[in-house]
Amino acid sequence: MKIKVEKGRSEKFPCELLLLFSFESSDKLEGSIQNVDLEWKGFISALMKQGDFKGELFECRLFYTHGTLPAKRVLLTGLGKKGEFDLEKWRGAASRAGQYIRDAGIKQFALPIPKFDSFSEVELSESFVTGLLLGLYQFNEFKTLERDKIKEIGEVTLLGEKDEEIRWIGEGLRTGEIISEAVCMARDLVNGPSNQVTPTLLADKARQIAKEYGMEIQIFDVSETETMGMGAFVAVAKGSQEPGKFIVLEYNKGKGLETIALVGKGITFDSGGISIKPSESMERMKDDMSGAAAVLGTMQVAYKLQLPFHLVGVMPATENLPSGKAYKPGDILKTLSKQTVEVISTDAEGRLILSDALTYSLRYKPKAIVDLATLTGACVIALGNDVIGLFGNDESLLKRIEEASGKTGEKVWRMPLLDEYSDHLKSDAADFRNVGTRAAGAIIGAIFLSKFVEKIPWVHLDIAGPASIDKERPYVPRGGTGVGVRLLVQLLRDWKKD
Ligand code: BES
Ligand code: ZN
Ligand code: ZN
Repeated sequence: MKIKVEKGRSEKFPCELLLLFSFESSDKLEGSIQNVDLEWKGFISALMKQGDFKGELFECRLFYTHGTLPAKRVLLTGLGKKGEFDLEKWRGAASRAGQYIRDAGIKQFALPIPKFDSFSEVELSESFVTGLLLGLYQFNEFKTLERDKIKEIGEVTLLGEKDEEIRWIGEGLRTGEIISEAVCMARDLVNGPSNQVTPTLLADKARQIAKEYGMEIQIFDVSETETMGMGAFVAVAKGSQEPGKFIVLEYNKGKGLETIALVGKGITFDSGGISIKPSESMERMKDDMSGAAAVLGTMQVAYKLQLPFHLVGVMPATENLPSGKAYKPGDILKTLSKQTVEVISTDAEGRLILSDALTYSLRYKPKAIVDLATLTGACVIALGNDVIGLFGNDESLLKRIEEASGKTGEKVWRMPLLDEYSDHLKSDAADFRNVGTRAAGAIIGAIFLSKFVEKIPWVHLDIAGPASIDKERPYVPRGGTGVGVRLLVQLLRDWKKD
């Protein structure tokens, strides 16, 4: 879909459809919609007065103009109560309007980027474009039948009146496109089945990003990680025929910049291994690489927005399968940190591969480490599918994440890293066991990870719930969500040196 910016007034602009927004029960129309209303002989104000269009949040009403306006159709979309409006609702409205237009089979539309106090033109344009592109995402790669029935919008025009306004709208458009493209890339990787999205494919994708954007890349195969001493990663990887890959992607904007490590769980399929999972819903376990997908997406945006950082993306990628070569409950593993782990469940594989990845990331002496992982079913039980579990050892980093979350709408909820619960990870035979009690499962998973970050400020995002969803949200269709990309990008955009 092509999105462009043009100078023009809505009431004079010829297009297939003109998209206009209004707040609920606004007795006086303002800005572009008022101009269209005047040109349209008061049609919109009459509709609203009669209650035929109320402006309720996401309400959509389509009208044919029959030559009374240069636009062939007008779609009115409600923004809800003015006092409750924010950019999250705006992204939702952009998405809902876009989906309405697409589903009606209309291929082109234009809209004036509205002016609302307390939001800049850049923000409004970026958020509109983000909501629209993310809401229109579809995963059709493997559909071969009735492809002609797939509906897509071809072109969107953002209208501005003054040159300066057009520049701001253009800037927001560019940023919105860059971010949405990365989120959609992550969604594609999550939605892609595990017979396609293998560790090798993730490594190829990382290699492609490195090549295109001039980043450094290292991809270690399992035998190399064995030589390096990553006993935990090797244990998980050795049960599968699909070769595991330990991927390290580095973006550096310049000398002397802060180093931040982004660590993403890359289990391309989690059967549970010898501690095999029940078959019900096991197909969902192709999303167990969502953390790695988010890291790839974030790195791509960092380059495209030229963010001033040295970023190290560490993505341990492997399947977790049972086989004659698979690791087993009772095995004792030596991690890269030299600490030993007794395996209680081979289904708690994420924390094992992450332990080596976290330790590896310490080589770069990062200022902060953020890991993203579909780590525990317990976190889904605690928080459901719409909230990320947030854990960490550093108040200021936790606050930064919470602020970024407030801006992006990727919700986080803080969970405690209770020292007392460390006891659950004590093992008779090794330094730790990889599983504690069922109760507080998400916390115990996070505590396990904390043993591998030394004293570095660190945040762990348990994205097991939001990684893929069955119930769509306003601009997040069903399936893989690409969660984490927007949150991390916002964190980096707002990062200020201490
Ligand atoms: N990948 C799963 C976690 C998961 C579960 C993600 C459901 C999304 C939805 C993880 O590897 C796992 O299996 N964790 C175990 C840990 C347990 C054995 C301590 C779990 O949550 O049951
Ligand atoms: Zn598992
Ligand atoms: Zn897993």
